[in-house]
Amino acid sequence: RLPAPFQVPLSIPRVLEPVVRDADADRYEITARQAEAEILPGVRTPIWGYEGTFPGPTIESRRRRTTVVRHRNDLPVPTVVHLHGGRTPPESDGYPTDLVLPARGWRAGHHGMHDPDAVITQGSRDYTFPLEQRAALLWYHDHRMDFTGPAVYRGLAGLHIVRDDEEDALPLPRGDRELPLVITDRSFAADGTFSYPSLDRSLTRVPGVTEAYAAGVLGDVVLVNGAPWPVHEVSATRHRLRVLNASNARRYELALDPPPPAGAAFVQIGSDGGLLVAPREHRTITLAPAERYDVVVDFGAYPVGTEVTVVNLLGAGSTRDVMRFRVARAERDDTAIPPRLSEVEQLARGQAVVTRDFAFTSGRIGNRHGWLIGGRAFEIGHAAARPRLGDVEIWRFVTDLHHPVHLHLVNFQVLSRGGRPPGPLDGGLKDTVDLGPGEAVEVITRFDGYRGRYVFHCHNAEHEDMGMMATFETV
Ligand code: C2O
Ligand code: CU
Repeated sequence: RLPAPFQVPLSIPRVLEPVVRDADADRYEITARQAEAEILPGVRTPIWGYEGTFPGPTIESRRRRTTVVRHRNDLPVPTVVHLHGGRTPPESDGYPTDLVLPARGWRAGHHGMHDPDAVITQGSRDYTFPLEQRAALLWYHDHRMDFTGPAVYRGLAGLHIVRDDEEDALPLPRGDRELPLVITDRSFAADGTFSYPSLDRSLTRVPGVTEAYAAGVLGDVVLVNGAPWPVHEVSATRHRLRVLNASNARRYELALDPPPPAGAAFVQIGSDGGLLVAPREHRTITLAPAERYDVVVDFGAYPVGTEVTVVNLLGAGSTRDVMRFRVARAERDDTAIPPRLSEVEQLARGQAVVTRDFAFTSGRIGNRHGWLIGGRAFEIGHAAARPRLGDVEIWRFVTDLHHPVHLHLVNFQVLSRGGRPPGPLDGGLKDTVDLGPGEAVEVITRFDGYRGRYVFHCHNAEHEDMGMMATFETV
């Protein structure tokens, strides 16, 4: 009953126009609302979408150009918006209790959260993003305490691309040869609705999913930019693919089938936090939830007429396929991948003033399955770390199972993995690091930017909703 793959054309989320560009900022308005989308051909699926679409519209900003987004909430539940990868002041970072209540039917004080420090608004909220950060592919998504997984699953995610002069000066593919690819997996019920095993489908009272899904919710349909296993025609030239895994729990190892007759399948030029110092060649790339890989694929290596399938080596059956490119025509290609892409300050172990340890493990919360950091479930008011602003710290994560660990506010560098030097896919500035079962990873970062409270958490959205999140406070 699943549709045949490679029939639906790839679409690119539209780039949102600001409502105003004034002297200080670009101002946008986005309304989160219920809508219907035709995701599977001929089937109507109710979604929750920013501007009623899934993915939401893309925002494009320049580095250091303040972007203010007025997020309106027309949904029946509170929302919280987080700009993932953003170097954002705490009041706009989407702390999970900083709710935007629906315009109607909810009263402040009647939202069931007890956080004296929460800043709660009704109907809308202005999020201010100074974007004092390098060019990178960021994304925004819902981050409400206890209900992030189901809200994102219903569609609350969109891209935010930061550009800068340094990157613009490089001869990289651009225009229609730069493709953002948001990969998600979903399951559909017979009536076309998304099937997500919430304990409470109103998403207001009881958080979490049924025990069978406590490890994370996986779908059997792979969507790219909201379309099932899409197909896209390309010229036989280099293309820049900006890949985001926005799935709740699924990891992908992407490969090209057939692989190019010569050269590497993927030349990685960037990571979560923007350009690498130098390109790196990979045969496959593995993405845990929330990770981004910025790669160049040279379709010029294939004869015109070739169909190149992006496959997921970690998938089976319907989740083995991701999308297909059709190399449709020859075209002139003036692009290049320079051997030197950018400057990144390399932090050294000796600069760190503190090393902190965090164990990401399964556990129990009351009588239910839960996920814990350092033996504790997310608790409002408890700061697991208080880094001093400007200090360099090493954070050491250890895990029982797979957990993609994400820090707000900062980008970090992977210092070691499993007691060894970082792996081939660990390069560059990251905000999310994938840990395998029983693995230990050390990351190093400087906590600069803003003072205030932020979170770090597992980006498996079901783990996050079931406790695997903690607060850190920069002081
Ligand atoms: Cu992508 Cu705390 O989030
Ligand atoms: Cu996890």
